[in-house]
Amino acid sequence: MMKMTPRERPRDIRKALKLLRRHMRRHAGPLALIALLVVVSASANVYGTYLLKPAVNDYILPGDLAGLLKFLMFMGAVYAAGVAASFGYSQLMVRVAQKIVREIRDELFSKVQKLPLRFFDARTHGELMSRFTSDIDTISEAFNNSFTVLIHSFVVITGTVAVMVRLNALLSAIVLAVFLGMAFVIRYSGRKSHAHFSQQQRHMGSLNGFLEEMVEGQKVVKVFNHEDSAFREFQSRNARLKKAAASAMTYSGILIPLVVSISYFNYALTACIGAFFAISGMIDLGALTSYLVYVRQTAMPINQFSQQANFILAALSGAERIFEIMEEPEEVDRGKATLERTAEGWAWRKPDSEIVPFRGDVRFHGVVFGYQPGHPILKGIDLYAKPGQKIALVGSTGAGKTTIANLINRFYDVTAGSITYDGIDVRDIALNDLRRSVAVVLQDTNLFTGTIAENIAYGNPGADREQIVHAAQLANADSFIQRLPDGYDTMLTGNGANLSQGQRQLISIARAAASDPPVLILDEATSSVDTHTEKLIEAGMDRLMENRTVFVIAHRLSTVRNAKAILVLEDGAILERGSHEELLGQGGRYAELYTGQFEGMSIAG
Ligand SMILES: Nc1ncnc2c1ncn2[C@@H]1O[C@H](COP(=O)(O)OP(=O)(O)O)[C@@H](O)[C@H]1O
Ligand SMILES: [Mg+2]
Repeated sequence: MMKMTPRERPRDIRKALKLLRRHMRRHAGPLALIALLVVVSASANVYGTYLLKPAVNDYILPGDLAGLLKFLMFMGAVYAAGVAASFGYSQLMVRVAQKIVREIRDELFSKVQKLPLRFFDARTHGELMSRFTSDIDTISEAFNNSFTVLIHSFVVITGTVAVMVRLNALLSAIVLAVFLGMAFVIRYSGRKSHAHFSQQQRHMGSLNGFLEEMVEGQKVVKVFNHEDSAFREFQSRNARLKKAAASAMTYSGILIPLVVSISYFNYALTACIGAFFAISGMIDLGALTSYLVYVRQTAMPINQFSQQANFILAALSGAERIFEIMEEPEEVDRGKATLERTAEGWAWRKPDSEIVPFRGDVRFHGVVFGYQPGHPILKGIDLYAKPGQKIALVGSTGAGKTTIANLINRFYDVTAGSITYDGIDVRDIALNDLRRSVAVVLQDTNLFTGTIAENIAYGNPGADREQIVHAAQLANADSFIQRLPDGYDTMLTGNGANLSQGQRQLISIARAAASDPPVLILDEATSSVDTHTEKLIEAGMDRLMENRTVFVIAHRLSTVRNAKAILVLEDGAILERGSHEELLGQGGRYAELYTGQFEGMSIAG
């Protein structure tokens, strides 16, 4: 059955080849052996057919039965060698192909882990996922089949043509003319069906994208009663897909019968002309027998050859896209200062081996930052958090609070100004050590598939059950976990879909507590828990964070009242700073926000 082949061309074949070549070079030995076995198998194929000529001329026509039997045994041996070779190369190829694909996958995953968040901001998840799925699949397909099929059909086609010309040049000219016509038809109809095929791919992508959104957003669909309109939209996308798929299939459906008919026509034509030649003595019967078999055999390789070339081009496009990711700049990690645990606690070891005691002093010096060039989000931030202080960041949505948190552990690097940590520029600290020393409870909770205990231990992979429970107690998560049927061994799936939003937050706080970090950043970490629980968490955190530095980004201003300093952020700049009482006294933005919240609460209450 003819498969639909994607019609895709890499933009830069050399670049695409670079990735594949690098991986192929590692398996150069086995690949060379495979190529050799393919050549053996294809040659046996061509040679076996050629042997029909002496079989007919030297044994069958003279009636030499004993000789024929011996000769048949020889022919059998030739075919057996071909079969053995093809068995060998197909087995080998499967292994090598899977190894190469696995290496590419590993390499891609490890690369993706090293890319900065900036990279992920600019791409959809679907886009990145398709590098791992469809692009790798096309490469896998190309290695599994195309590599050997291409060599095989090349050898068969050239071998056959050479032998045919040797057998009878005149007859060959006729046969070749028909073959050329056939190749042309394959090419033409291939072009047509490929155009429809890429249409089909596009519609398939659009249908899948819609499906994904609808499945994820099913709740919202139901809330707004959009089932019917969603279904109508789905129907219309589905109909477009059906139309494109039907046209694609029509062309490929025409192709196969057409090729088959042409090859039968070729066969009949060759037989007639050959018979005429044989009668007039221009060709012997043996040669004609081989000839007719060749004619029937050659349609297949021509078809395969053109098909596999497309698979290979598609794989090259996939390789090119993967290679583009491989070439992306990684997170800059030139820092040399490392974090060490000494007898007195944490300490920094500077590149010159000087040991600086860890204090947890974080300062921003005129920090300017924007996610996109030319769009500054933070416009000159100066702030300091002295060791052991609790600093609160408040301000309206979009003011830049999360952005400040993002800069401390270098999710992004500042555009201008600097951030120092115990007097060391954060860019001079080894990235792993920097991140190890700062635990961030992110605004969006992310839990992984695994038990609750495993999720908490994510913050400290060496933690034992006692430490895990202790961390959960600090986060005030222990009591609700205990009440779950499986307690700490409750399985979480789908980002903790079986928990409430607040419970998910408690687990992510416990995870941060388990990592026992010198600096903690809580970004609206308690926005979904009730005020009572929030107070308990705060008490737990205060115990945990004694003598450590904490940044709290909070929505509910009541929770930041006891902060050492409150920074009011507006539009990327610090508008006010001071303690709760000082800011209230000033009667500025903070006072406005604070009283506004309480008014809002009294209306709501
Ligand atoms: N990854 C990002 N890429 C581009 N812009 C962003 C990104 N994250 C946040 N922003 C923009 O930066 C501004 C500040 O966002 P953020 O720091 O998240 O505010 P908040 O104070 O609510 O935490 C917003 O205008 C937002 O649109
Ligand atoms: Mg935020």
